[in-house]
Amino acid sequence: MTVSLDAGEQLGHDELEALQLTRLRATLRHAYENVAFYRESFDAAGLRPDDCRSLADLALFPFTAKSDLRDNYPFGMFAVDHADVRRVHASSGTTGRPTVVGYTRGDLDTWADVVARSIRAAGGRPGHKVHVAYGYGLFTGGLGAHYGAERLGCTVIPASGGMTGRQVQLITDFRPEIIMVTPSYMLTLLDEFERQGVDPRATSLKVGIFGAEPWTEEMRREIEERFAIDAVDIYGLSEVMGPGVAQECVETKDGLHIWEDHFYPEVVDPFTGEVLPDGEEGELVFTSLTKEAMPVIRYRTRDLTRLLPGTARVFRRMEKVTGRTDDMVILRGVNLFPTQIEEIVLRTAGVAPHFQLRLTREGRMDALTVRAEARTGATAEQRADAARAIATAVKDGIGVSVAVEVVDPETLERSVGKIKRIVDLRTP
Ligand code: DLL
Repeated sequence: MTVSLDAGEQLGHDELEALQLTRLRATLRHAYENVAFYRESFDAAGLRPDDCRSLADLALFPFTAKSDLRDNYPFGMFAVDHADVRRVHASSGTTGRPTVVGYTRGDLDTWADVVARSIRAAGGRPGHKVHVAYGYGLFTGGLGAHYGAERLGCTVIPASGGMTGRQVQLITDFRPEIIMVTPSYMLTLLDEFERQGVDPRATSLKVGIFGAEPWTEEMRREIEERFAIDAVDIYGLSEVMGPGVAQECVETKDGLHIWEDHFYPEVVDPFTGEVLPDGEEGELVFTSLTKEAMPVIRYRTRDLTRLLPGTARVFRRMEKVTGRTDDMVILRGVNLFPTQIEEIVLRTAGVAPHFQLRLTREGRMDALTVRAEARTGATAEQRADAARAIATAVKDGIGVSVAVEVVDPETLERSVGKIKRIVDLRTP
């Protein structure tokens, strides 16, 4: 299959770096001249935008954190006149004020371009029908996917999230080739296909473009197998743009190519902030290279990954995100991420791919209970075996003891968008 790449994807390595440096310097100037927050933070560090003479010099500049966006709520991080802001999105966040982001006409164009590029890398082509089941609204998933699919020349089915029964009907009747949805909601759809007696392997779907939450290779295998589709990963965050910051190519499925002509990545030590060499795991940090309404300089994503050399594209890849620094559970000194439990649960016979993590406190010790759902028809003995197998695998693989409950089929809450894996029952 020959894929026609766009101009950005055809840059050579040196051309890409030259373009990145030009765009980076322009972005630093734009941020400094138009956003008080950046002017103050650069001044406090004794830096001027023109002190950035090479890509490596970016490391001299201060980080931007989610709290900086909150402190400048709602529009304090915007670098253009309000009249030039065509749209805003916001992410709810768990505490307090949402973080608000803005886009100019030009930004919306760039965003549609990178999402179109992402869908094409996933195997989408002009003329395909794309079922978008990411939520529409302040969340960037729905509208981000929508305009990218239109830009590529696809027919969009703007289903949004929820009304699961109707989603199955739409997929059955409209026959889309592509679905864009969170992996956890795809599992909810799977249940619904089965409930309606529709064979999920016999749909028109060929490719699923899954993101907005961490998911594992085990989850990929489960979804590919149960739906007979290719499952690829899309990454992004509203502060940097939305979906389409990085995308896995369907022909390699080896991590996500970062669209580095628009988003410059660094990986840093989450504790010291020191920049790590490619290949080492740490916190992903992004600097926007072309954004107008809300440039971000060294934005700390809290997502943990590694940078790897390009394969199917010239751009560097990021490994599948293992977790967020804020989703890390520390149990008796051992760090644990929900994705590690996902790997184990999905490899265990007798349980369905649905699980939840309950954190409680006993005395001064935190305790974790893995609640996994039994597969329909699993016997009491199979359920007990599954519970033991999960506990042993967590102890052997992660090095900590957890309690495991295998609960009845269809009792754990189903995802309609981003899943919340951890239920924190500890009293503050
Ligand atoms: O979730 C944007 C998006 C929508 C991406 C649809 C992909 C598909 P936010 O709501 O701002 O934006 O949340 C961003 O979600 O920092 C990650 O922690 C997580 N995330 C997003 N994509 C992935 C992924 C959207 N592919 C936050 N793998 C990010 C793991 C992801 N985590």
